Amino acid sequence: MITGIYPGTFDPITRGHADVIARSIRLVDRIIVAVALNPGKEPLFELAERVELAKIATQDIPGVDVEPFDGLLVEYVKNRGAHAIIRGLRAVSDFEHEFQMALLNRKLNSHLETVFLMASEEYSYLTSSMVKEVASLGGPLHDFLHPQVAERLTARLHVRRS
Ligand code: PNS
Repeated sequence: MITGIYPGTFDPITRGHADVIARSIRLVDRIIVAVALNPGKEPLFELAERVELAKIATQDIPGVDVEPFDGLLVEYVKNRGAHAIIRGLRAVSDFEHEFQMALLNRKLNSHLETVFLMASEEYSYLTSSMVKEVASLGGPLHDFLHPQVAERLTARLHVRRS
C-alpha cells in the first residue's frame, strides 16, 4: 500500500487543491490530506473546521483520508508510514518556496521524497488567500470552492463583519 501525504493549511480547501488530490490518487493507493495547525499563518478557520471542509471537498474522491497534524511534517509522514509528500505547483512563482521546503524536508529525512504535480491550468491562479478576498468583497465563489465550503466561508466572513 503506497501512501502519499498532501500537506497544507487548507484555509479553506479550494478546487485547485481538490484537483491535485484527484491527480495524485492515480499515483498512489492512498492519500492523506494532512491539514496543518500552522498558527503562524493565523488561519481564518479553526483546525477542526479546515479538516471538516477538506473532508467535504474530497468526499467524492476514493482513497482519500483527511487528518489534522501539528509539528514537523517529516515526523508526521514517518509516523503514518507514508512514502512521499505531494505538493501542487501552480506557477513558477511557487517554485522557489517549494524547492526550499522540499530540500529542508529531505535534509531532515533523507529517505523522504517530495513529488510535485501541476495543478490544472484552470486553477493555476487560485490561492486560498485570493478566494478569501473575493469572498470578503461579495464576489462569486462557485468556480473556486465546493458549494458547502463557499457557504461556510461566506457565513464566517459575515460573522466577522457583524
Ligand atoms: O498550504 P501551505 O501553507 O503552503 O502549507 C505549508 C505546510 C503546512 C506544508 C508547511 O508549512 C509545513 O510542512 N508545516 C509543518 C511544519 C514543518 O514541518 N516545517 C518544516 C518544513 S517547511
